[in-house]
Amino acid sequence: MPTADAKPRLHLPRPLLLLLIPFLSLLLLYSYSSSPPPPAAVDVAVPLSPTPPSPHIRMRRAGFRSYEDYLRHQLNKTLDPRLRRVWATRDWHRKVDAFARAFAALRDDGQLLSNASRALCVGARLGQEVAALRLVGVRDAVGIDLAPAPPLVVKGDFHAQPFANDTFDFEFSNVFDHALYPDRFVAEIERTLRPGGVAVLHVAVHRRGDKYSANDLLDVQGLVGLFRRSEVVRISKVDAFGLDTEVILRKKRSSP
Ligand SMILES: *[C@@H]1O[C@H](CO)[C@@H](O)[C@H](O)[C@H]1NC(C)=O
Ligand SMILES: *[C@@H]1O[C@H](CO)[C@@H](O)[C@H](O)[C@H]1NC(C)=O
Ligand SMILES: *[C@@H]1O[C@H](CO)[C@@H](O)[C@H](O)[C@H]1NC(C)=O
Repeated sequence: MPTADAKPRLHLPRPLLLLLIPFLSLLLLYSYSSSPPPPAAVDVAVPLSPTPPSPHIRMRRAGFRSYEDYLRHQLNKTLDPRLRRVWATRDWHRKVDAFARAFAALRDDGQLLSNASRALCVGARLGQEVAALRLVGVRDAVGIDLAPAPPLVVKGDFHAQPFANDTFDFEFSNVFDHALYPDRFVAEIERTLRPGGVAVLHVAVHRRGDKYSANDLLDVQGLVGLFRRSEVVRISKVDAFGLDTEVILRKKRSSP
């Protein structure tokens, strides 16, 4: 499972350790600020009513006062105890089975996904899609979401993925509509995919999401156009829990 940088471990006699504390804290601070992977910190100066990155994407009028405000709003759904109970119980097997069928089909397709793929699910909530990947044999699969759900999902913001460049062979997401910055959402997927890696997105085209959606996709080209370092493998109609379109892209091998 891919992990963010491990913190340095110290085994020192106590008095020495005490003496070293000021020095070590500086060192730690320095290593946090300078070592890879670089979780491209979200710039708080970014506009909170972003201009759409494409004429095919409509941004919702949200009126967030700060980026933290937007995160709190998103967390509200992710942490809703009633929804979490449904996701973990009556929803769980139905969703895992459906995801597993979809991933097995991608794997049998040859070059898109294999048991050996290092896979990431972006915005995975409790991790049904991660469980499905592992179920079909993709053992090195993990998810990120604003709230962690161990052991399947680690904490991470899709606008600033906590992984180094070129980490994953495969990324899946069905939360594009939650992105306040759709272009950054896509750039982060392209950054953490290795050259030749595959991105699979399930989206709703021309259909309104829920009150947690930050954007509406009016035409699939709005999404495809944001992938500047990838080529479309295929776009197809699917029936995936309210989402109707599957977009598969591959990061160019000679991507700059
Ligand atoms: C979170 O949800 C609760 C209950 O639905 C609501 O009262 C509250 O205003 C919401 N907070 C945010 C930040 O959306
Ligand atoms: C992939 O893993 C699944 C589940 O463990 C297994 O049934 C399948 O044979 C594996 N495929 C290959 C090509 O190893
Ligand atoms: C990671 O990729 C981004 C662009 O995708 C680039 O700007 C950055 O310099 C890269 N970081 C490293 C450490 O290579």
